[in-house]
Amino acid sequence: MITEKLQKAINDQITAEMWSSNLYLSMSFFLAKEGYDGLANWMKKQSQEELEHAYEMAGYVIRRGGEAKVNMIDVVPQGWGSVQEVFKHVYEHECNVSAMIDKLVDIASAEKDKATQDFLWGFVREQVEEEATALDIYEKMKKADNASLILLDEKLGQRK
Ligand SMILES: [Fe+2]
Ligand SMILES: [Fe+2]
Repeated sequence: MITEKLQKAINDQITAEMWSSNLYLSMSFFLAKEGYDGLANWMKKQSQEELEHAYEMAGYVIRRGGEAKVNMIDVVPQGWGSVQEVFKHVYEHECNVSAMIDKLVDIASAEKDKATQDFLWGFVREQVEEEATALDIYEKMKKADNASLILLDEKLGQRK
């Protein structure tokens, strides 16, 4: 059985994951409008991945005898100055999410809930990859001229 406090904290994270999903969908629409269909596809997958995180967390809460909730999702930003700015934002956002997940582990630890700590460590590890991928793309974009940006758009468009 999951404690009330931990259930509330994970439900808040579910809301945050759904907000992230909407943020990336908003970015995907922006990229598509700017003509970067590959980057838009990459970002749409990113959006779907965040929803999967929400589903996974909700499933966990339910398996532990708790109640998963769908809350109101705040409005997300729309419109960026450049593609570089979009990916800088992705990187910074993923760093914020990592900090949120770390706090969740602290709460699970304070509640002495070992199973939830174990469950959350999976997300802690995944955040390392999320940050690294976003930073890698951002670094490449900063150096890219128009021709290499087109190549990057094609490459990232292949994300399944
Ligand atoms: Fe996530
Ligand atoms: Fe993420």
